[in-house]
Amino acid sequence: MPVLKNMVGSAIYVYLDRPDKKNALDIESIKGLEKALDEACSDEKIRAVAISGKGKDFSAGADIDMLSSFDSSSAYEFRMAMNRLSRKMRDLPKPVIAILKGYSLGGGLELAESADIRIALKDAIIGQPEVSIGINAGAGGNVILPRIVGSGIAMYMAMSGRRMNASEAKAIGLVDEVVDDEDQARKIVEDISSKPAVTLQYIKKLVNASLDLPVDRAMEEEALYFSMLFTRKEVTDLLNRWRKR
Ligand code: COA
Repeated sequence: MPVLKNMVGSAIYVYLDRPDKKNALDIESIKGLEKALDEACSDEKIRAVAISGKGKDFSAGADIDMLSSFDSSSAYEFRMAMNRLSRKMRDLPKPVIAILKGYSLGGGLELAESADIRIALKDAIIGQPEVSIGINAGAGGNVILPRIVGSGIAMYMAMSGRRMNASEAKAIGLVDEVVDDEDQARKIVEDISSKPAVTLQYIKKLVNASLDLPVDRAMEEEALYFSMLFTRKEVTDLLNRWRKR
């Protein structure tokens, strides 16, 4: 199987599982990730999804052997499968956290760009090298990456193919935390997944909506969702616990 799953606490860990190919993404890997996200969506026990790679690397990008066999129509089909996956990650009403390590390049990095949070192990090597094989960063590198780091840095990354280390990626806001090892990354995932599920869901919805809505409209949405939290027992329990301390 191109994807492995493992439940740790209340988070599901989904691993790309082609370590001999540096977890290069093929169509089967994408389908496996989609299936794992569908299962995570419908299983109430799962409160967060962490995506990483088996072995030393997150992913060295789209499978270039596969790309070299494409014509225009199969390239479009593959690209639309990546779109669906990205959409599922962004629409999942639970946090999706990418744990980058080793080679985290090309389509692998773009997969992580569709996650809500990116944690990098300090050995991560991060970049959009696609231009070196003549293609553009075709799975969000021209669309989602600029929203994360700004258009100048996104263009620089995509046009130069330059690789960076984890602390450089943190400095430009591409990764949110740099950790020494996978245990530290797991602690962050555990901490996030222990927070009230409904609050996490609303945070994700509102932050994503804020990117598309005018500020006043987004602020109204925020007020609405804020007020709705006061009808939720897991939230009122936490508030009452504070009052009684
Ligand atoms: N697609 C398909 N296979 C890949 C791959 C990719 N994106 N990246 C690595 N591999 C395969 C290699 O072909 C090799 O397979 P083999 O052992 O059957 O020959 C194996 O993974 C190990 O890679 P190798 O190149 O030998 O390791 P390395 O440590 O010398 O270099 C990289 C690692 C990541 C720098 C190098 O593999 C690379 O540049 N990969 C392509 C990165 C890229 O351009 N990604 C964007 C794709 S759109």
